[in-house]
Amino acid sequence: MAFDPFAQFRMTDHVALITGGAQNIGEAIALTFAGAGAKVMIADLNGEKAEATAKKIASETGQPVLGMKCDVTDDAQIKACVAKTVDAFGGLSTLVNNVGWGEVNPDPLAVTNEQMIASYKLNTLSALRMVEAAAPYLKNAKNPTITNSGSMVGLLPAFDFIAYSSAKAALNHLMTGLAHAFARQIRVNTVVIGTVITEGYASAGLDAKVQEALMNPNNLAGRSGTPQDVANAFLWLASPAGGWVSGQILQVSGGPKKVRLVPGAE
Ligand SMILES: NC(=O)c1ccc[n+]([C@@H]2O[C@H](COP(=O)([O-])OP(=O)(O)OC[C@H]3O[C@@H](n4cnc5c(N)ncnc54)[C@H](O)[C@@H]3O)[C@@H](O)[C@H]2O)c1
Repeated sequence: MAFDPFAQFRMTDHVALITGGAQNIGEAIALTFAGAGAKVMIADLNGEKAEATAKKIASETGQPVLGMKCDVTDDAQIKACVAKTVDAFGGLSTLVNNVGWGEVNPDPLAVTNEQMIASYKLNTLSALRMVEAAAPYLKNAKNPTITNSGSMVGLLPAFDFIAYSSAKAALNHLMTGLAHAFARQIRVNTVVIGTVITEGYASAGLDAKVQEALMNPNNLAGRSGTPQDVANAFLWLASPAGGWVSGQILQVSGGPKKVRLVPGAE
């Protein structure tokens, strides 16, 4: 039989728990993993939407997909969510810490302690507590992985998004540290994501004009990304195809800003 390189991207016998999976990037990851053969739990603050998205993905893929309410800033809800996943699907092999977001802070010096702490809780600590709850099950699974939704501003900070930027930078460090702590047991990687325009941009305080400008970023690909562009990277990292990749911060962002030394025509 001919060699099938795509077989390594199959997620048969994998059980994935995806936080913030009710919409956009998390939803695309859930759809992609289920399409690759995984059983999927979508955990989201919006429980109704998580259930509706799960139903839609289950009917599109024929896979078991469930949704539930889980506020990832609440330790008790995290534990209940992991327990329900294991109970429903008989284990847990694949954790995706996808929840995260921030708001525009035009003056970094005006950012309050409360804003900094809230951002750290949502973008960083939630992932640590989720790992703590999931690790005992991941360690018993085949091809166990933790993959995180990071941000380009966690590498190169946006000063007008300083609470979010610094929390995402901390996430990178936290997860690289955990990759070392779980050496030979669990692979841990973070995808730092570029601009994927969603309704979240409006709630973050960016108006329509700014969003339009962001649609045409000066990156090497010359376009903003889609949730599927991002989900494809998660599939590689979480499936057996990514079996030799751990402790990495992978940029999926259309490339860096286009740089030229000599000013002139494009
Ligand atoms: N969209 C982008 O351009 C972009 C760029 C860089 C990084 N990211 C990162 O990618 C991830 C997904 O981004 P998105 O644009 O799809 O986000 P989104 O805002 O569209 O979706 C996030 C989901 O998380 C859920 N959520 C929010 N708070 C929660 C909580 N406390 N507990 C559980 N669920 C919660 C929301 O209900 C929502 O369904 C985030 O971590 C974000 O920081 C996004």
